[in-house]
Amino acid sequence: MSTASSWLPPVHESTLLGAAMAVPVAAGVVRSGVPIGHDLLRGSFCFDPFTQYAAGELSNPNMVVLGQIGRGKSAFLKSFLLRNAAWGRAAFVVDPKGEYGPLAAALGVTPVALRPGGTIRLNPLGAGTTPEVLTANGTLVAALTESTLRRRLSPRERTAVDLAVATAARGSTPLLSNVVEALLIPSPAAAASLATTTRQLTEDGRDVALELRRMCTGDLAGMFDAPTTDGLSLDGPMVVLDLSGLLHSDGVGLLVTCALAWLGHQLVRPGPRLQRYVVLDEAWSILGDAAVSRWFQGSWKLARARGVANICVLHRLADVDTLGAEGPAAKALAAGLVADSETWVIFGQSHDDASHTARALGLSGVEERILQRVAKGTALWRIGGMSHLVRHQLTPVELALANTDAAMVR
Ligand SMILES: Nc1ncnc2c1ncn2[C@@H]1O[C@H](COP(=O)(O)OP(=O)(O)O)[C@@H](O)[C@H]1O
Ligand SMILES: [Mg+2]
Repeated sequence: MSTASSWLPPVHESTLLGAAMAVPVAAGVVRSGVPIGHDLLRGSFCFDPFTQYAAGELSNPNMVVLGQIGRGKSAFLKSFLLRNAAWGRAAFVVDPKGEYGPLAAALGVTPVALRPGGTIRLNPLGAGTTPEVLTANGTLVAALTESTLRRRLSPRERTAVDLAVATAARGSTPLLSNVVEALLIPSPAAAASLATTTRQLTEDGRDVALELRRMCTGDLAGMFDAPTTDGLSLDGPMVVLDLSGLLHSDGVGLLVTCALAWLGHQLVRPGPRLQRYVVLDEAWSILGDAAVSRWFQGSWKLARARGVANICVLHRLADVDTLGAEGPAAKALAAGLVADSETWVIFGQSHDDASHTARALGLSGVEERILQRVAKGTALWRIGGMSHLVRHQLTPVELALANTDAAMVR
């Protein structure tokens, strides 16, 4: 285990950043919120996207956390969420590596482990026939099938999906298997609404039906095509979705999409609204899929309406910029993240990644160099147009919760 002093960044970082401070610094902007650590140029550093958004200091509460492996991204988040829990903020964490268990335990919560053959079920479809629910369900089914078909749905297919979703909504809470049924055997009324025959409509929706059916009968069977497990709710300070059983499976993007769709329906239910963080750690594992990325971008935009601050964790912007079958869609996602996230927490990066980040965010040459030299546990915070070089200070309790090196040093 290293000593605390080894987290101190080399002194030239602050000197470089000081020289680069062409941007204005508003004195009060980082004085509210949970304490994070030390701004190496200005003293203590606090941050709270909710109050800063309410005060008009941020135009959106979303955050992106970037940086190489082992730089302190997850450690920062764990301490940030723990400190926010003390402020009454809830969190929903998508945890592809299964590393948030100790934090959950500290908050008295058991992670929800989603895996094939497991006991947890999440129905990603919303109940009801309101335009919002039907649109959400149609968009979800389209994203799931576009992901597995690895292409966009044709207009005929997309229309068949919307009609099937509307048919399935007539029962109680629809399941994915009800949508499959409605696609395979469309109603005469659905066909008539398009001035076509049931035979033609069956043909239009058949490929989509077969793909969706695989989700109900294949690898992912049982997890998303059944009523949600009793007692699974957003009550309590934190929900951790442990996906470690699926990290390297092709299905992980679909899984996260279904889980976030379920979350979206829970967030609009009547009842007290908590301010909530939705954290996607290791987001590269799902955002390489173009269809999933597109869907995700839509749900990211709904954050403000739902009282949610999204936090997306990536190694590098290129994770979303170049991966995926559809380059332009992935590029649009990267651009969307930049447009829709006002707060960036950037840990150390390689030369190439730092120059990519600097281009995307309009960082100065000095800031770009800082990103290549910054020490573990220190990050360049970009809030709106302002920069802060912040050393994150973890308490001994938080260090124990965040220790992902345990397996390496044992
Ligand atoms: N600010 C910090 N102070 C002390 N230790 C830290 C700090 N940030 C990270 N660490 C330690 O470094 C290791 C790797 O950090 P982690 O957050 O898991 O990396 P990442 O998520 O960037 O891959 C962890 O064991 C963690 O305890
Ligand atoms: Mg991590």
